[in-house]
Amino acid sequence: MFTRRTLAGLGLAAFAFTAAPAQAQQGELVVYCSVQEEWCRPMMQAFERATGIRVAMTRKSSGETYAQIKAEAANPRGDIWWGGTGDPHLQAAEENLTEAYRSPQLANLLPWAQRIAEQSGFRTVGIYAGALGFSYNRQQLERRRLPVPSCWADLAKPEYRDEVQVADPNSSGTAYTGLATFVQLWGEQRAFEFMRAMHRNVNQYTRSGAAPARAAATGESLIGITFMHDAVTQAVGGAPVVVVAPCEGTGYEIGGMSIIRGARNMENARRFYDWALTPEAQALAVQARSFQVPSNANAPVPPEAPRLADIKLIDYDFAKFGSSAERTRLLARWDAEIRNAPRR
Ligand code: F6P
Repeated sequence: MFTRRTLAGLGLAAFAFTAAPAQAQQGELVVYCSVQEEWCRPMMQAFERATGIRVAMTRKSSGETYAQIKAEAANPRGDIWWGGTGDPHLQAAEENLTEAYRSPQLANLLPWAQRIAEQSGFRTVGIYAGALGFSYNRQQLERRRLPVPSCWADLAKPEYRDEVQVADPNSSGTAYTGLATFVQLWGEQRAFEFMRAMHRNVNQYTRSGAAPARAAATGESLIGITFMHDAVTQAVGGAPVVVVAPCEGTGYEIGGMSIIRGARNMENARRFYDWALTPEAQALAVQARSFQVPSNANAPVPPEAPRLADIKLIDYDFAKFGSSAERTRLLARWDAEIRNAPRR
C-alpha cells in the first residue's frame, strides 16, 4: 500500500497500487483517511491482507476531506472516507455527498455509534469516540514558573501569551469540535469573546488537529488543544505532558465513516465498511498508539483511553453542529472575527 504522498515522492502516478500478498487480486479501493497517518497505514495494510483488495490511501484532516469530497462530487475519485470527526461526516450526509448503507455490523455497535447512523439516514456511522481537552509540557511549565492551567478560561489569560497551539477549525475537525464546544458551554457571544481573547495566546493555527499535542510534547508550544487521546499518545511515548480535562466540562467527537456517493468501487467500499466495524479491525488502533474508545461493543477499550464516564462531558448537539447551515455559518464567523484579528 502506498499513500499518495509516498507516490508523489517517488514521482509515480497517484493511483499505482502494490499487489496484496495474501490473496489473489480482488480489485481496488480508494480511501480518504482522516485519523493520524500512523493509524491509517496499518489499517489499510491489514485490509489488503484480509481481502486481497488493493488500497490507495490519502490522509487529510476532517474539514479538508469534506471539502475535497464536495469539490469532487460531480466526478468522485474516492470510495470511502474513514475516520475524522463526525460533524463534517454529518454535513456531507446532509448534502447528499455520501451513500446510505446499513452494515450487518450495526447491531454490534454501542448506542452512540448507532444513533449517529440513524440520525444521518445511515449515510455515516460512529467508529470511535473521544473527549476534547488540552495538554501542557510539565518541564516547560515548571522551568518558567507558570501556573497550572486546568480550565478552558485559563487559556485566555495573559500569562500564557504565545503559549497555546490549536488547529484551524476549517481544516481540522478537532478545532471545529472546540469551536462548537465553546458555543455550547457559554452561548455564541461569550464563546467568540473567549476565542478572541485566547487568539492573543495562540502561537499557531495548525492544519491538523493532533499537531498541537506533538508541539506540547516537544516543548515547541507550552499548551496544545487536542482530543485528550492524542495527548495520551504523546504521554505514552514518554513525553513530559500532562493531559487536562477542562474544569468547565468539554465536548467530544464521534469519529465517522462514510461511503462516498458515486464510488467507483462500491462493492469494495462496503467490504471495507463492514470490516472496519469489526472488533478485530478496531483493535488495530492500539497498536498504532491511538487511544479512542472504539464503537464496537466487543472491541477492547485500551486501558490508556481517557475514560469518558470520568470526564464532565457536555450533551454535544451533533444534529445542530453537524448541520450544513450551522457549520458553514460558524466557520465563516470564525474566519471573519478570529483568524485575522490582531494579536496584541
Ligand atoms: O486520529 C486522531 C484524531 O484526533 C481523531 O480522533 C479525530 O477524528 C481526527 O484526528 C481529527 O483530525 P483533524 O482535527 O485533523 O481533522
